[in-house]
Amino acid sequence: MINRNDPCWCGSGKKYKRCHFFEDAASGKKNGSTAPRMKEFPPKTMKEMQGMQRAGVFNGELIDFIRPYIKAGISTEEINTFIHRYTIDHGHIPACLGYHGYPKSVCTSINNVVCHGIPSKDALLHDGDIVNIDCTTIVNGYFADSSETFMIGSVSAEARHLVMVSAEALIRGIDAVKPGLPLAAIAEAIEPFVLSQGCSVVHQYTGHGIGKKFHESFSVYHHIDRECDNVVLRPGMTFTIEPMINLGGWPVTLDENDGWTVRTADGSLSSQFEHTILVTADGSETLTRTPSQIAAGVRLLVDGTAFV
Ligand code: MF3
Ligand code: CO
Ligand code: CO
Repeated sequence: MINRNDPCWCGSGKKYKRCHFFEDAASGKKNGSTAPRMKEFPPKTMKEMQGMQRAGVFNGELIDFIRPYIKAGISTEEINTFIHRYTIDHGHIPACLGYHGYPKSVCTSINNVVCHGIPSKDALLHDGDIVNIDCTTIVNGYFADSSETFMIGSVSAEARHLVMVSAEALIRGIDAVKPGLPLAAIAEAIEPFVLSQGCSVVHQYTGHGIGKKFHESFSVYHHIDRECDNVVLRPGMTFTIEPMINLGGWPVTLDENDGWTVRTADGSLSSQFEHTILVTADGSETLTRTPSQIAAGVRLLVDGTAFV
């Protein structure tokens, strides 16, 4: 077996990952004993794909529903209550509530909180904050998972830069998805871009396969890492892409008191956008686009900036 960072078998002198790796992985051809052994995951059936599409539509509606409430002065507890009620009123299930003991129906991650921030009546949004609202819903047994980071009032130039970089990181990740390519194509599209913008990609938390389970099958790395090298993208796979991007370094800490809240180790700001996607015959479909994104013909719309 040849690793991605080894010299290519063809003798070009380039690293394998910069030379024949993608071609080998896509064709499944064995060049000597060097072609990577790719892991395959069963595609969703037609019925399952429709279930995922419906779940994605609702989760998008939920994000648009909560959008106007994300303003200075609201508490994350109130946001949680709105999301919980809207979900239940539509006959669906908030997936976060009770997931491995998680106590609320949404994750609300403010400023230096990377992910899994727990809504609280003591946590008010203030002018200048950035906050990620991460919603996951079970619709007729199928999960959809998406999030956006919101800028409250006027935020610093560096906070705005971070939010825009994290939005573009998600779009670049989605654009990299093509059947036949290794899953690693996503990380290859995200990490060099993020580093070039002076930000970093969190390593400890990843995207994930999703379907009739919240976190299923495989991890979707956003940073370049050997472990995800051998998963191949095939039509019918559904997973999330959700790069957590820090203004400082990538290391994070887990709050030992609540067992959930993840913060940047250096206290820097963190931002994230997430969509659930379906791999198609020629690329991917973004299942969790919101009605406002669909109306604008984009996959993300951040404070007037369109990410097509
Ligand atoms: N929605 C998160 C994700 O993107 C997971 C939240 S798990 C919870 O994977 F238990 F914290 F809600
Ligand atoms: Co997710
Ligand atoms: Co999520």
